[in-house]
Amino acid sequence: MTPAARVAAAIDILDRIADGEAAERALTRWARGARFAGSGDRAAIRDHVFDVLRRWRSCAEWGGGDTGRALMLGLLRGQGAEPDALFTGQGHAPAPLSPDERAAGAEPQGAAALDLPEWLWPHWQQSLGDQATAVADSLRHRAPVMLRVNSLRATPEAARATLADEGITCEQAGIAPTALRVTEGARRVAQSAAYREGMIELQDGASQASIHEIPAASYCNILDYCAGGGGKALALAARFDAAVTAHDALPARMKDLPTRAARAGAVLRMADAAGVAASAPYDLVFADAPCSGSGAWRRAPEGKWALTQARLQELTATQDDILHRAARLVAPGGVLAYATCSVLTCENEDRVTAFSRAMPDWRLLHQRRWLPGPEGDGFFIAILELSKK
Ligand SMILES: C[S@@+](CC[C@H](N)C(=O)[O-])C[C@H]1O[C@@H](n2cnc3c(N)ncnc32)[C@H](O)[C@@H]1O
Repeated sequence: MTPAARVAAAIDILDRIADGEAAERALTRWARGARFAGSGDRAAIRDHVFDVLRRWRSCAEWGGGDTGRALMLGLLRGQGAEPDALFTGQGHAPAPLSPDERAAGAEPQGAAALDLPEWLWPHWQQSLGDQATAVADSLRHRAPVMLRVNSLRATPEAARATLADEGITCEQAGIAPTALRVTEGARRVAQSAAYREGMIELQDGASQASIHEIPAASYCNILDYCAGGGGKALALAARFDAAVTAHDALPARMKDLPTRAARAGAVLRMADAAGVAASAPYDLVFADAPCSGSGAWRRAPEGKWALTQARLQELTATQDDILHRAARLVAPGGVLAYATCSVLTCENEDRVTAFSRAMPDWRLLHQRRWLPGPEGDGFFIAILELSKK
């Protein structure tokens, strides 16, 4: 496909997304009907679509509307590219720009230029202070591809060498001792021998770093209370020589975990609420709570536009509930790690403060926030300890 035909395909997909279809579904449906597209075409089209999703608001302003065509036009204008070079009408290219399209659109200002919902901007500034603009802008760009070296199977050096044999190059990242940043061949990682043999997992750098924030201790019984796909449970099993239990309110989310654990050589137990209670108390409970995802909007940009003030309030109530439920499962002297992939104070420090006020037997050992950067997403962790008596 020509570059212009790829733009035309992205326009079709963006129209479906603008009509309410989820991005992944719209991409898959398009790909099913486009057997002529090669893997390079699909990757380029996906990149166009996700570039727009990260910048939906500014693209709509630059392009003068939120049809697929206006959005793609807005993306090009915002990037300082020349739309006429692609909107030629030749072959499978999009039709040339009409006079109305030429006249429409203006440079976005304020929160629109930063691609944040208007209502969120005051919360954003309150949470991020003088970094508010830089962090919002960083979420308008692609995220790095980060790998976690599974210490149960490989050293970072061995993993890098195995990946290099297949043309995938990585550099050691400073964010966590297990973290590698892929510099070439990212799209081949999931098919690589290193991945199949469990030497590596795809996992964001800050998520990995959060596991290394947990105080070193000889834990025996660990619970990942909100395990989801199990990325943190696997990282916990690799770092600590302990029995690790994975739980999620929606057990279907853990469906691939047995396969992932087998590949990683990790021994994990999956438990429902009754199973979790039967093995309590735990000397470490990790609660990676559902959140706005604001630290990870580079990877999952639809979340940015779906978030509302009411949803944020619901999330903070759920976070409080999870903190209290998880705390009841911790043994005296044990540790509760509360985590989110959000950079908003109302989901992080404020929840820990509310919990600490209500629970005098708990002591905050420390908390840390990562901002989105070249090695990781935005992330937060608080480490709380229950008194021994
Ligand atoms: C941020 S995700 C977890 C991601 C996961 N730890 C990982 O590393 O892939 C939050 C998870 O919490 C689960 N969840 C929501 N409410 C919950 C609750 N009340 N108790 C336990 N898990 C809950 C959700 O189903 C979701 O899978």
